[in-house]
Amino acid sequence: MTRILLIGKVGQLGWELRRTLAPLGEVVCLDYPDVDFTHPETIPAIVDQSAPQVIINAVAYTAVDKAESEPGIARLINAVTPGVLAEQALKRKAVLIHYSTDYVFNGLKGEAYFETDPVSPLNVYGQTKLEGEEAIQQVGGAYVSLRTSWVYSTRQGGFVTKVLQWARQQPVLRMVTDQVSKPTWARMLAEVNAQMIAMAGQEPYEWFSQRSGLYHLAGSATASRLEWAQAILANDPHPEEQKAKELQAALTSEFPTPAERPLYSVLDCSRFTRQFGLSLPNWRDTLKLAMDTQ
Ligand SMILES: NC(=O)c1ccc[n+]([C@@H]2O[C@H](COP(=O)([O-])OP(=O)(O)OC[C@H]3O[C@@H](n4cnc5c(N)ncnc54)[C@H](OP(=O)(O)O)[C@@H]3O)[C@@H](O)[C@H]2O)c1
Repeated sequence: MTRILLIGKVGQLGWELRRTLAPLGEVVCLDYPDVDFTHPETIPAIVDQSAPQVIINAVAYTAVDKAESEPGIARLINAVTPGVLAEQALKRKAVLIHYSTDYVFNGLKGEAYFETDPVSPLNVYGQTKLEGEEAIQQVGGAYVSLRTSWVYSTRQGGFVTKVLQWARQQPVLRMVTDQVSKPTWARMLAEVNAQMIAMAGQEPYEWFSQRSGLYHLAGSATASRLEWAQAILANDPHPEEQKAKELQAALTSEFPTPAERPLYSVLDCSRFTRQFGLSLPNWRDTLKLAMDTQ
């Protein structure tokens, strides 16, 4: 049995991790305000209290547009405190599992990104997440940083629930065709994480220290926002409630936002599959499972 500290238990991913990690051992789950990532100095005592073998950081400042006007807070949450977590993990020979984002790239490559590709974030969120990756890498120890993309859950304010809501309010939905990435169901991501920890057995530090590093992990196959929205509406368990009769193609430039987003941020996940023998299924199949209420 493994002693696990999960920080960030109510976010999209944290909520799923709390469930999938449960069979692995003793899981201590914390969230704001018991842990506040804007106060990195409080982290050592929190880690000491639970004496974990594995620390999972599901906390992040994910408000991409708001981050443009709060770079200091975003940096504390996404970069400074993850660095402190890495130091604490190293000190007690615990594994750190951390998540990062496709937004570390500028989206101009035009084909799938590898872990070794140059990074060039377009916004504060992406920049601070990149700094978090770097802080963890600098500390070293046994860690896995997983860059993922377009994370969704069916239970709260992400893209899937928003599309369903808009379809109940408006006759026409306009979705962009020039943002392309890989939708990733939070539950599948959590399940792969739990399986990875199970594979590590009773000496997780030793096992992960031979596999430490940065990996890409997202659903298989690519989608534009429009294709994703089409699939969401097609899998709506209550299509009779939809007012939307038409999905129109649009361009990102028609919807100005405070933060610029990468247009083509597809992650190549083969390094993760080679290392751990696991992958996330095709996003269309996963979306069906996620939205199936029967
Ligand atoms: N969502 C995406 O599309 C996406 C894409 C690529 C990568 N990622 C990465 O995947 C990971 C999981 O994302 P997610 O979608 O599950 O994020 P999320 O739903 O926004 O959850 C973030 C969590 O962080 C907590 N949090 C925020 N500020 C905090 C603070 N000051 N102190 C302590 N906790 C705080 C939140 O708690 P409260 O709810 O109480 O504020 C929540 O539990 C993140 O590392 C994210 O960067 C996400």
